[in-house]
Amino acid sequence: MTQPAHLELDNLMHPDVLANPYPTYRYLREHDPVHWNPVFRSWFLSRYDDIVAALQHPHLSSVTWKLRESRYPLSADDLAATKQILPYFVSFMQGLDDPEHARQRGLMNKAFSARTVERLRPRVQQLVDELLDRALSARRIELMQDLAFPLPWTIICELLGIPEEGHPIIKASSDALARYIVIVAPVAGQLAQITEALQQAHDYLAHLIAVRRADPQDDLLSAMISAEENGAMLSETEIIVACTMLLLAGHETTTNMIGNGMVALLCHPEQLARLRADPQLITSAVEELLRYDGSVQVLPRVATEDITINGTLIRQGQQVNLGVSAANRDPAQFADPERLDIGRQDGRPLSFGYGMHYCLGAALARLEMQITIGTLLRRTSRITLASDNIQWRPNFVLRGVTVLPLLLE
Ligand code: HEM
Repeated sequence: MTQPAHLELDNLMHPDVLANPYPTYRYLREHDPVHWNPVFRSWFLSRYDDIVAALQHPHLSSVTWKLRESRYPLSADDLAATKQILPYFVSFMQGLDDPEHARQRGLMNKAFSARTVERLRPRVQQLVDELLDRALSARRIELMQDLAFPLPWTIICELLGIPEEGHPIIKASSDALARYIVIVAPVAGQLAQITEALQQAHDYLAHLIAVRRADPQDDLLSAMISAEENGAMLSETEIIVACTMLLLAGHETTTNMIGNGMVALLCHPEQLARLRADPQLITSAVEELLRYDGSVQVLPRVATEDITINGTLIRQGQQVNLGVSAANRDPAQFADPERLDIGRQDGRPLSFGYGMHYCLGAALARLEMQITIGTLLRRTSRITLASDNIQWRPNFVLRGVTVLPLLLE
């Protein structure tokens, strides 16, 4: 395969790559599976076996965010802002190694276990039905704003116990953190906006923690406040960070995944028809949609020692980006990987990661996707795109569409 002219191997924020990153991934997988990306000054891995090995490598750490400060020159204001933002990534489980990671995860595992999540089924179904009632009478829906966002957002807010009055403040901080992930070099004022949003959410959550401390409720926030497993109590700052990060992790990826899943189905009408004809396929269909166009494309790690991956030397301190969505299209792992097949049983997609950081919310995300897509198909006879012009968000890590207007019959 020669490199197509439009292929951007390094600028993963290029509009062509954002619209369809898979030709780039394919080229890298075939020609340069351990690729040095000079734009992001990091390695990019694209083969399934390399990524599974990397996710278990003792010298590839999740503590990547400390690198951030040195990646580009910062003004004094931006440096101060960065110091305020980084703790969100540095002290949450996803950016920690064991034993700190295991301590935090242990405190939250129960709240997201398959059994606990299954109890949410009626509430998820009720919410999807309510959101769809409105759309069905209008015979159209802007899927992202009207369903894909409010469902996981409401559920994670209810799990944590965030009252409705706090939702806009918390949503603004979540969005700010999602934007921060892909900043290569900040433009003037960009980081200040992020810290402003985080500060407001911080103040709101500190107030809410005081309220819950005085009057605990049956929610995850109260559970975190009273958690004392092996004396592993969380500090107020840790609780605020965990809340903010859980709210981000608990909705952004699922919102995007519902959108990506529906785009994939609408672009493959034969698979959509197959799912309509056999709703039992919803479980395998959701796994396949996660494989085919996942909402988390890249997982960052950092080398804690000089290591060799697939014959390439990675120096201590270098960042290694694991292209899980590239791995999910690796023909060495999946038969005919560019084909969407909602009955597919082979392989083992890396959409929720692998190993000790395997997504805490996987059971919840699966439940929400199955009910949303299943109900959308059950309650309609035909769904069409209202516009062929699909805009992808400017984010190569968290992949999703900005809007998705659909006509419903
Ligand atoms: C379709 C939706 C989702 C996708 C594609 C997704 C994907 C992922 C991936 C790939 C990881 C591994 C990160 C790594 O190894 O660095 C991860 C971790 C995580 N996810 Fe999800 N996620 C989704 C939904 C959720 C939901 C609903 C929650 C709810 C709270 C959640 C919470 C987390 C947390 C807390 C971690 C960190 C786990 C750890 O470090 O041990 N995710 N997710």
